[in-house]
Amino acid sequence: MHANIVTLPGDGIGVEVVAEGVKLLRAVADAYCHTFTFGEHMMGGCAIDATGDPLPDETLAACRAADAVLLGAVGGPKWSDPAAEVRPEQGLLGLRKGLELYANLRPVQIYPMLRDASPLHPSRLEGVDLMVVRELTGGIYFGNRQEAAAGDDDPSASPSTGSGQASGQALVAYDTMIYSAPEVERIARKAFELARLRRRHVTSVDKANVLASSRLWRQVVTEIAKDYPDVTLEHMLVDSAAMHLLRRPSDFDVIVTGNMFGDILTDEASMLAGSMGMLASASQGAGSNGVYEPIHGSAPDIAGQGIANPLATILSVALLLRYSLSLLTEAQAVEDAVLSVLEQGVRTPDIAGGGPSVGTAEMGDQVVAALGRALQA
Ligand code: IPM
Ligand code: MG
Repeated sequence: MHANIVTLPGDGIGVEVVAEGVKLLRAVADAYCHTFTFGEHMMGGCAIDATGDPLPDETLAACRAADAVLLGAVGGPKWSDPAAEVRPEQGLLGLRKGLELYANLRPVQIYPMLRDASPLHPSRLEGVDLMVVRELTGGIYFGNRQEAAAGDDDPSASPSTGSGQASGQALVAYDTMIYSAPEVERIARKAFELARLRRRHVTSVDKANVLASSRLWRQVVTEIAKDYPDVTLEHMLVDSAAMHLLRRPSDFDVIVTGNMFGDILTDEASMLAGSMGMLASASQGAGSNGVYEPIHGSAPDIAGQGIANPLATILSVALLLRYSLSLLTEAQAVEDAVLSVLEQGVRTPDIAGGGPSVGTAEMGDQVVAALGRALQA
């Protein structure tokens, strides 16, 4: 097949890990006689530096026209001044919103040979295989917000005069968590559909004991569940979910939750897998186009050293092949190749536990080699 793939390396280690993702895509194209064309575009801090805009129009247009998008990470200390009006993260959020990628799938799987990389006792990791379905274009990330303004706690009030600090008024700022029933319905359906392909269990995570938006969330998910009588639904409060994720992670199958809770719970869940460097994600909308990215950030502390773990990106490539290009055999081959290099003991520093390790490019080469070996066998 022919596919047009846009790459957005972004900032920090994003550049290094996306290079390995492209390496894998090229290897897959060669091995299975596909034609993938790549167009690299700017997003995030690098785009701010070059154009002043974290998501230039031409980048969004290219992503819209693509069959799939492979993304690295955005952000870094250079652009993290709290007073800055333009931030790299706005590029990422703008892309998700611009492509209406409302569903973010974050699978959490445990590789048996990495059990010791997790801070959890290995016995707790037995049978862990879960999928977080995070709502991605709504909630508190996109609700009305007000940056800190002295004493201006009523958005409808006329602008306060004078400096709040000087006049002793408190600084205030707010964000709004807002969900509509249709937004909850479509993400709930996505979760139930995915559960049907898995162990048919959905845990909906909210904070319905406090938040009105969560009460609507719970009500809508309960209603939609009636269309999926073959799937078991349970509701869980987010604080409790954070605890149970460590106490009995193998009980979870599909977790469906709002934008911010999903962000937080997936960083936590990455520790089950041993490293942020292992978790892939797929962001989907109504069509087949999607954005595929590791869940980790730009890791400025190790950027440019060639030691970042590219496996989260390579596993995101597998999701890209599966979900956007419907290349199921190829997706499985990439996942098998990752398993194979881990079986051989190849490790980047984050999963090496202080033992011998390889760099980013070497890990990518090893996965390509494993893919080749599997095809010859
Ligand atoms: C993620 C990241 C982003 C998010 C940041 C970089 C805006 O943490 O994809 O999990 O919060 O969604
Ligand atoms: Mg995050």
